Amino acid sequence: MHITDEGSGATIVWIHGYPLNSGIFRPQLAIEGFRHLMPDLPGFGQTPAASGELSMDDYARAVLAELDQRGIDRATFAGVSMGGYVCFAIAQLAPERVEGLILIDTKETADTEEGRKGRYDSIEKVKNEGLTPIVDAMLPKMLTPAASPEMVAQVRAIMEATSPAGAIAALGAMANRPDSSALLPALDVRTLIVVGDQDSITPVADAQRMAAALPHAKLVVLEGAAHLSNLQQSAAFNKAALLWLT
Ligand code: MLT
Repeated sequence: MHITDEGSGATIVWIHGYPLNSGIFRPQLAIEGFRHLMPDLPGFGQTPAASGELSMDDYARAVLAELDQRGIDRATFAGVSMGGYVCFAIAQLAPERVEGLILIDTKETADTEEGRKGRYDSIEKVKNEGLTPIVDAMLPKMLTPAASPEMVAQVRAIMEATSPAGAIAALGAMANRPDSSALLPALDVRTLIVVGDQDSITPVADAQRMAAALPHAKLVVLEGAAHLSNLQQSAAFNKAALLWLT
């Protein structure tokens, strides 16, 4: 697994969403005093796709194996969107390893029937047409219209680095992911929830619902951000994260 491993201190594991890679977290390397692990999940960025179907638990185990290799017992896990779904899987599989959670533009619920059908339609689309239609459809939802052309180009390039096999596996894993609602009240860890005020994929209401269900949550709504709030409003994100972390 390709993984950025920079800095020293307590570990934060940054888990990207779909169809993205660890490049969306470049600005978070500026958060000083921590060791940052930023994996490219299988099939995304520079990590080759795994063979066959995957579940959120498979992604979680792959991330935990990277911690094992480095002798890291506990970490704060930060996930954007699908990365948040992986965080929930980690919290289920290995709660003793979770120091804290940063849930960014994500939600705890499973797909609706309609959402699941959309995933299978997307799988067919990727098989027949490659990733371009998915990238074209999702890119406008990642950033607000105020984003600079450079930032838009950067996110497009990150999305286009996803392999078709990686996208297909992730779509299947998201379609089949469990509902984590029942997990939240029992999650006895400090949690920071961050959401862009213009996120249409996982809107502010999703973040508010998670904050109400979690015992130790702080909610931050970032103005001027859509689905990638950590990237588009990186200075405000890093400030809120550092305050919460320390
Ligand atoms: C993501 O950003 O990871 C995806 O939009 C999540 C999803 O489609 O549920």
